[in-house]
Order: sequence, then C-alpha cells, then structure tokens
Amino acid sequence: MVPDIKKPYGKQTERRLSDLQEYFSGKKVVNEMLGQDDPIIYKVFEYPVPNEGEHLIYATTILLPGKVKDEFYFTKGHFHNKPGGAEIIIGIEGSGSVLLQNREGEFRYEEVKINSVVYSPPGWAHRAVNTSKKDFVFLSICRADVGHDYEIIISNGFAKRVVEREKKVCLIN
Ligand code: PA5
Ligand code: MN
Repeated sequence: MVPDIKKPYGKQTERRLSDLQEYFSGKKVVNEMLGQDDPIIYKVFEYPVPNEGEHLIYATTILLPGKVKDEFYFTKGHFHNKPGGAEIIIGIEGSGSVLLQNREGEFRYEEVKINSVVYSPPGWAHRAVNTSKKDFVFLSICRADVGHDYEIIISNGFAKRVVEREKKVCLIN
C-alpha cells in the first residue's frame, strides 16, 4: 500500500510539551502550561525502511500551531551523525519556516509554504517552526542511516529563536 503522506502511516511518534521542556526559553511558562495540560506540539509518521545507507527514509511531520509565551511551536531540531546526512524538506500543508545552522556558526532562515523545497546540506542542523495559525505539515527525506544528534541543540539551542512581537514574526538571539 502506498501511503498518503498527509494521513498516518508507518511508525508514529507524538511529541508533547513535556518532551520539549528543555528546548523552549520560557521555562516558567512551560511549567505553568504543564500544570494545566500537556499539549501535543507535533506528530511524526515515518515510513519503515531498514536502517541502512542504501535506503531513503521519509517522514511526515504535523507541527501544530501555538506558542510558549511568545515563542512559536517548533520541532526539537538536530544534526545528523553521518557527515553525508543531507536532507530535503518539502512543505505540503500550511506554512512555517526552517532554521538551519552548521557547526561553524553559519545560520539560515527559510520560509516554507506548500510545495517549497528546503535543502539541509550535510553537516547542517534543522528545526521547523510553525509561525502560522494552522497545522504546518512537511515531508522530510534523507538517508536511512544518518542518525539523529539532539545533544548540542539541547545544550546550545539554535542561533536564533522565532517569536511573535506586535503581531509580527521576529527572529531574536
Ligand atoms: O528527518 C527529519 O529531520 C524529520 O523527520 C524530523 O525528525 C521531524 O520533523 C521531527 O523533528 P525532530 O527529530 O527534530 O524532533
Ligand atoms: Mn533530520
């Protein structure tokens, strides 16, 4: 059966606010929010393939709209362990952005709409952000054996955060 990339398929993962506590800057607001509820921030559907380099893995992410204080919901973001670990990200519903950065400190901000294609080169970390009021849905494709490295992002974050200021989307340090 060929999956419909907008509907659940394969391995399904849910990331809730409690899974992203260390990533948001507003720790006090995170704790207040968690006292009420533990909202879903995003869901990932991943097509199952063997974890080997000859294979390509593709996954759909549904990133929900919302903010923690003024910071828009985002995916954790990660580097790939393998140097050859490039990735392609394609917007399939709604809109948002992708933050890209490498270990040399270069940073890029790409806006994503339906049919936008973002290329995350080898050695670049990527994080998606939902700057809209609707679901932001995108497809990611990369080699199956790249491996995910979240550690540097947990400790250092991304060079910029995406927040709402006076109803505008702003990048801050
Ligand atoms: O392959 C990817 O980079 C994506 O499928 C992500 O894993 C997905 O968007 C979820 O983000 P993260 O893995 O940073 O939590
Ligand atoms: Mn990736």
